Amino acid sequence: MSDSDLTEVVRAYHRASKHHLDRYAPGPGRLDWANQPDPFRVFAGCARIALPLIADRLDVRYADLREGRLPAPAPFDLERLGALFEISLGLAAWKEYQGSRWALRCNPSSGNLHPTEGYLVAPQLPGLAAGVYHYVSRDHVLERRATWPADAQPPSAVLLGLTSIPWREAWKYGLRAFRYCQLDIGHAIAALSFAAAALGWRVRLEETIGEAELATLLGLDRPEDFGAAEAELPECLLVLETDGEALPDLPPASGWIGRANRLSAEHREWPGLDEVAEATAKPAAEEESRHASPEAFASDDADRWGAIVRAAASITELPAARLYRQRRSAQAFDGVTGMAAAAFLALLARLLPDLASPPWSAWPHAPRLHPVLFVHRVDGLEPGLYLLVREDADLAGLKSAMRPEWLWEKRGPVDLPLYLLLPHDLREVAAQLSCHQAIAADACFAVSMLADFSDLDEAPWAYRRRYWEAGLLGQVLYLEAEAIGLRGTGIGCYFDDAAHRLLGLDPDGRWQAVYQFTVGGALDRPAASRARARAASTSFPSASATPMRRRS
Ligand SMILES: Cc1cc2nc3c(=O)[nH]c(=O)nc-3n(C[C@H](O)[C@H](O)[C@H](O)COP(=O)(O)O)c2cc1C
Repeated sequence: MSDSDLTEVVRAYHRASKHHLDRYAPGPGRLDWANQPDPFRVFAGCARIALPLIADRLDVRYADLREGRLPAPAPFDLERLGALFEISLGLAAWKEYQGSRWALRCNPSSGNLHPTEGYLVAPQLPGLAAGVYHYVSRDHVLERRATWPADAQPPSAVLLGLTSIPWREAWKYGLRAFRYCQLDIGHAIAALSFAAAALGWRVRLEETIGEAELATLLGLDRPEDFGAAEAELPECLLVLETDGEALPDLPPASGWIGRANRLSAEHREWPGLDEVAEATAKPAAEEESRHASPEAFASDDADRWGAIVRAAASITELPAARLYRQRRSAQAFDGVTGMAAAAFLALLARLLPDLASPPWSAWPHAPRLHPVLFVHRVDGLEPGLYLLVREDADLAGLKSAMRPEWLWEKRGPVDLPLYLLLPHDLREVAAQLSCHQAIAADACFAVSMLADFSDLDEAPWAYRRRYWEAGLLGQVLYLEAEAIGLRGTGIGCYFDDAAHRLLGLDPDGRWQAVYQFTVGGALDRPAASRARARAASTSFPSASATPMRRRS
C-alpha cells in the first residue's frame, strides 16, 4: 500500500471511531462478562525473577523532579530496575466491592482495562542475567523470555519495550479501542519517564527502530509462543540512559521460552482495528532525534518557564515515589473547590516542552498538541475558553482555522502562551462535550487536546504519536493536580465533532480533538491532600451542581 492509501485507512478509522451527540462509535452495547479479558498477561514456563519492593526508600521529592533537579544516577541493577517498574507500571492498590476485586496501577488506563504490557531488555547486570524480560505487575516479577548474549550491549544501555493488547479495550469499547490503547501508551511512557527521574535516569523514546524490528526484539512475532492467545501490538522502545549514546546494534535474542496465556475464551472482531494498527506501523528510520545529546537539556525553555513553574508554592513535599503511587482518577468532583491562578499557571507551564524535566525529556518531537481549556473555577481568571499554544509556529494556523470572533487576548505571564478566546460560563458545555460526564462541569477546569493531523500524509504512524503525546500531557496533569491536593481524570469519552464545531474547526480538518481531561477537588480525596488543596485554592460560594449522567 502507498503512504496515501495508508493515510486514508487512518483517516477512515478516525472518522468511524468518533462519538457523535446522536450516536456513539460502534461498540458492544452490553458487556460480555463471561469473556472479560484477564488483566494480567503471563508467559507459562519462564523463569520468574522476584523484584524487591523498595520505592519507600526513594526520598527524592516530586517538587525537585518537576523542575529538572534529578538525583545522581543510580547504578543499573535488579533492585533499581525493580523500583522503576514498581513506581511506573506497578500495582498501587487492590479494591474490593460486592465480591469483585480489581487492581489499580500507578499508570492510569481507560476503563482500568490496562492494554499496555511492559518489557525489559537488559545486558548482564548485578542480580540480573542478560535477557529479554516481561513484567507481570500482579506479582511484581520479571519473566525471562529469552537470553541475550552477555556482551551484546554496552552496559549503559537498558531498553524498555511497550506493547498493547487491543482486545482488552475492544471488549468494552469496540472500535474506539485503538485510540484508548494509544493514550494509555502515552501515559505509560510518561510514567516510566517520571519513575526513571526518581532514580536519576533519563528515558528517551527511540524512534529509529521500526515496528517489525521491535516485534522481533520482544518476541512478539513468534506464533509458536502465542498460539490462540491474543496478539501483542509492538508500540515503542524506550532507552534508559545516563550518557545520551545512540542505540547500539541489537543482535537477536535466543533460547525463547514461555507460552502466552489466553485472556478471553471468545472474542468479538472489530473490523477496522487490525487495519489501523497495520497502517500506523512505523518503519525503521535514520536518527531523527530532536535532542541527541544531554547538553541539549540545558535548554532555554527551562529558563523561560521555570519561574512560572516555581510560582506554585503549595506543591507537595511528598517523595515522588509516594505521589506516583497515590495518583488516582477522581470519580466525582465537589463542584465547589477552585484553584489559585498561580497554581493554575504553574500547572500550564508544566505542559510546555521543558526538555530538562520528565516526561518531556523522553519526547523527541516538537509539540503537536494544544490544550483548549474550559476554565470554571480559577481565582483571578475569568471563566471561559482559553488556548495554550505550545508551539509558537502554530499560532497563526490555529487563529485562521478557528472562529473569527475569538478574542485571542493574552493572559498570564508574558512567557506563557495562554490566550483567552471567550469569557463565558462553560460548565454545562464541557460536561455535554464529555459524553455528559458531570466531572467536566464540576472540575476547576476541563481540557480538550487539539492535535495537528497535517503530517499524516507523509507519516501515517504519526497518528499513534499524537495520542502518545496526549497521554504525556494527561500524566503531567494527573501528577500536577495530585501534587497540589487536587485530582485529575482522563476523559476518553467525548463528542469529537461537537468539540470541533464549538471551536469553529472543520470536523475533517487539520486539528482534531484526541483526548479530554478534568482537574478539580475530588469528593474522595485523602484528608492530607484536602489541606494542601486549601493552600493552593479558593472556595467558590456557588457550586455548579448540575446533576448529569456520567459514563466511564
Ligand atoms: C485514556 C483514558 C481515558 C479515560 N476516560 C475516562 C472517562 O471518559 N471517564 C472517566 O470517568 N474516567 C476515565 N478515565 C479514568 C480511568 O477510568 C481510570 O484511569 C481507571 O479506572 C484506573 O483508575 P486510576 O486512574 O485511579 O488508577 C480514563 C483514563 C484514561 C487513561
